[in-house]
Amino acid sequence: MLISRAFATADLLRCRLQWIIILIKTRGESQLVIGLKALLLQLAALVLTSVLSVIVQKFLGYLIPPSVFLSLHVSVALSFSMLFRFDWWWSLIQVLFPLLLVLAALHPLPSQWYLFAFLIFALLYWSTFRTQVPYYPSKKSLLMPIQALLPAVQGSRFVDLGSGMGGLLMQLAKLNPEGQFIGVEIAPLPWLISRLRALLSSSKVKFVLGNYNRQDLQQFDVVFCYLSPAAMPSIWEKARAEMKPGALLLSYEFIIPEKPHDFCVKIEEDAPYLFGWRI
Ligand SMILES: C[S@@+](CC[C@H](N)C(=O)[O-])C[C@H]1O[C@@H](n2cnc3c(N)ncnc32)[C@H](O)[C@@H]1O
Repeated sequence: MLISRAFATADLLRCRLQWIIILIKTRGESQLVIGLKALLLQLAALVLTSVLSVIVQKFLGYLIPPSVFLSLHVSVALSFSMLFRFDWWWSLIQVLFPLLLVLAALHPLPSQWYLFAFLIFALLYWSTFRTQVPYYPSKKSLLMPIQALLPAVQGSRFVDLGSGMGGLLMQLAKLNPEGQFIGVEIAPLPWLISRLRALLSSSKVKFVLGNYNRQDLQQFDVVFCYLSPAAMPSIWEKARAEMKPGALLLSYEFIIPEKPHDFCVKIEEDAPYLFGWRI
């Protein structure tokens, strides 16, 4: 009894400590949106490469050919990205961006291709500029840790705020035939894909197109979200006001700055945690 209490206290202390560490890290970050930072680094790489090529031409009398200029620019952009500890896929974007720009300038595509690409991105990312929550899927390894936390009560209700393409919800619904699963998604393309997937696999998950801010959370036993740091303060306000006592709020990767989590679950090595709050 005493030992299990000591373990529970140690676990709670570990959770609080982890919350404080993440909080300090997040607060320390600049308010500049990550995409804007990446663009600034790309421009800084261009300026540095241009200055370097002017110096080389002036002092060594050597005119840097365009292909060398491009390679130099890409290398500087990649180095900046690594220096500022961007995720690996940002480094990939930093490298591909100038290469694709040059390719598009040398071999222009028919204009309707650009319109098509714009429409796909607009329908996929929709109002990300406002919500600050882009689409990216959660890991498959998240499924079983969430499953382990679901209430044993038959017919319990689960909602995914920002359900993306619906993969996680459909897997959970398969494992819990008695449960009710609802996904709310604001972007039309992921929502449409999730609806089609549910239709084709005869899944009973209900996917709703709309803003989760308009979804009443009172009816749910478990509310799950995988959003972004920007969305978490308002999620907590909403959960506190609407969720029923005893219900469970789960967030993958992102903490609530205003409220330390009650527990956290390690998903896998080097992967973000799943955080939980009992209302
Ligand atoms: C990171 S994805 C997570 C997708 C899914 N939950 C998963 O685990 O794979 C976040 C999703 O939330 C959606 N979203 C962002 N703000 C929203 C809002 N206010 N209402 C509904 N969906 C929103 C985005 O369009 C995006 O598809």
